[in-house]
Amino acid sequence: MNSQLILKSFFPFQAGFAIDGSHLPKVTDAEVQLMREQFDVLTSENCLKASNVHPQENVYEFAAADALLDFAEKNGIEVIGHCLVWHQRCPEWFFDDDGKPASREKILDRLRLHIHTLLKRYRGRIAGWDVVNEAIADKGEYLRDTKWVQNVGEDFLEKAFEFAHEADPEMPLFYNDYNIELPDKRERTLRLLKHLQSRGVRMDAVGIQGHWQLDQVPFDEIEKAIVAYHALGLKVMITELDIDVVERPDCGADVSAHRAYSLKEDPYRESCPPEILQKQAEQYAKLFAIFNKHREKITRVTFWGLHDGRSWLNHWPGVRTNHALLFDRQCRAKPALAAIAATMS
Ligand code: G3I
Repeated sequence: MNSQLILKSFFPFQAGFAIDGSHLPKVTDAEVQLMREQFDVLTSENCLKASNVHPQENVYEFAAADALLDFAEKNGIEVIGHCLVWHQRCPEWFFDDDGKPASREKILDRLRLHIHTLLKRYRGRIAGWDVVNEAIADKGEYLRDTKWVQNVGEDFLEKAFEFAHEADPEMPLFYNDYNIELPDKRERTLRLLKHLQSRGVRMDAVGIQGHWQLDQVPFDEIEKAIVAYHALGLKVMITELDIDVVERPDCGADVSAHRAYSLKEDPYRESCPPEILQKQAEQYAKLFAIFNKHREKITRVTFWGLHDGRSWLNHWPGVRTNHALLFDRQCRAKPALAAIAATMS
């Protein structure tokens, strides 16, 4: 038994977690029980990213995603597809034409086929898609300077939403990004979302990822962001929540940044001290007090991992032992679960 407190019974929004399709063959009975007991919905952490599912032109690797869908259905869990366009995991072939840069038309044709193939294959089995992930620049500029902007133009975003909508007109579609609660990036995100709305694209929700760090959670800005995005007529989702407890060197958001960590930089290898878990619980509770206050604006809160042992923060920005989620490596509830439950009752 994992816990008497059941997220999906006291959350006023859907309770979600992310899982990598490649983890599935190795999940334990306790993990399956945790998923079934606590959560309504899972997000495909990696297996539907273009680099995983469509590594070369006309070559699709569906096995991991198919297995994830079968598993979710068997266990009564909904699935969110993540993500159709993300510069970080977009294979080079999209932009290449026999060694020369592909034309805008060719890239858009490929994008259209990619999106149609995925949406049609999983029609009726996926409950919503992150269409574009992380298109806003971290600082200064409006959009991130990627091959999508360079080789297609800023309208690659509206094209992606347009293709998704034409592939499945009923499908809920989301824009997803990190740090978009912070004032500067928030302003540019509002600009983008308003622009997409003015172009008439179907867009149902904005996903605030929520990769936060202990003692640095920007509570006030998170609340302002929820209000501002909802004011555009969009639903708000917290899509990749975790609170990192290990101090992080300044490494931006480069998911490929990897290096070895000394014991000093990986202080909780054996276990996480109770006072840190307590602090984390208080900060999760404060966060969920905000989510609860705005419960009519928020439709889903998804944690980026099932439990501490399955969090990406054990591998980024290097191999370390992190404790960022609500359940520990044995699937036991951490103090944060009770703290959240108390704040929401
Ligand atoms: O599957 C291989 C495994 O065979 C190999 O032994 C191992 C060695 O490093 O790598 C494994 O692949 C890794 C994969 O995660 C599965 O664990 C990749 O190297 C690693 O780059 C990949 O990282 C994922 C990352 O996105 C990049 O795709 C993380 O799991 C995933 O949590 C992370 O998720 C992103 C969201 O999509 C977007 N927002 C930020 C978030 C965190 O970076």
